[in-house]
Amino acid sequence: MTVRDMQEEILRLKKEKDICILAHAYQSQAVLEIADFTGDSYGLSRQAAQAPQQGVILCGVRFMAETCKILNPEKRVWLANPMAGCPMAEQMTPEMLRELKEQYPGYTAVAYINTTSALKTECDVCVTSSSAVSICRALDSDKILFVPDPNLGQYVAEQIPEKTFALWHGGCPRHMEVSGEEVRRARAAHPEALLLVHPECRPEVTEQADYVGSTTGILAFAEKSEAREFLIGTENSIVEHLQFSCPEKQFYPVSPALTCADMKLTTLADVYRTLEGRGGEEIILPASVMEGAARCIRRMVELGG
Ligand code: 13P
Ligand code: SF4
Repeated sequence: MTVRDMQEEILRLKKEKDICILAHAYQSQAVLEIADFTGDSYGLSRQAAQAPQQGVILCGVRFMAETCKILNPEKRVWLANPMAGCPMAEQMTPEMLRELKEQYPGYTAVAYINTTSALKTECDVCVTSSSAVSICRALDSDKILFVPDPNLGQYVAEQIPEKTFALWHGGCPRHMEVSGEEVRRARAAHPEALLLVHPECRPEVTEQADYVGSTTGILAFAEKSEAREFLIGTENSIVEHLQFSCPEKQFYPVSPALTCADMKLTTLADVYRTLEGRGGEEIILPASVMEGAARCIRRMVELGG
């Protein structure tokens, strides 16, 4: 079977079985082409809540499939590759957050969506990289305990100086790798390029950027911009996607470290096998986790607009 044959078979099967395919922007070009919706974590959550189909296959990482299931308890949801997790999401357990909350009485607990569903049961609201600033601003509370990513937390805190933020020490092992010095070298090599970075990068990186935003934000900025060259400071798949959508422009990765092994796991064949009923993992969560995490995720959707 060629890539194209398999894509055609997937398109036929998903229609026949009434299944919607959601793919995160970090997925491969071959997977994005067969998806009903592609986007950042926030876009996928919103789309999951609206999808008319009876089933959803999520191409991305585990917390995204869990979020999709929690927003669609009546639907069957599969993670196309069961091994695809997010190392950041595994960093903090509910017990660790309970202990941390005791040190910050009176703070509203805000969890990045890159966390487990079990952890979300302990939080007041969750946020994504594209909704974090507007949601933290909209919260009644002026004291925010932001977990687990201190880089995103600090970026949000800088946009809302009137609120007090307490941060934790987690973070994305990939985005954290990029240093300010590496970025300076990349800028020197491409002096005309605009620097677009994800807020999971360290402050010494975001402070040099021309634009800081989510994966979809970076794609949209580069597509609309009149500039011709861009340095991309997020997972390197975004460099490839931009080369397809804007072949007349030049895109350079800021660092080879920005390769997320988990996001790379899902293949077209995984999607095909899941549709055939011989692959993927159906997401089934305990009722207490479904209820507890739904409160926090639904609040994000309400506040995020
Ligand atoms: P987005 O919210 O921008 O999609 O980011 C998700 C992610 O995992 C970034 O590393
Ligand atoms: Fe998780 Fe980082 Fe991979 Fe995003 S890039 S899925 S935060 S490990």
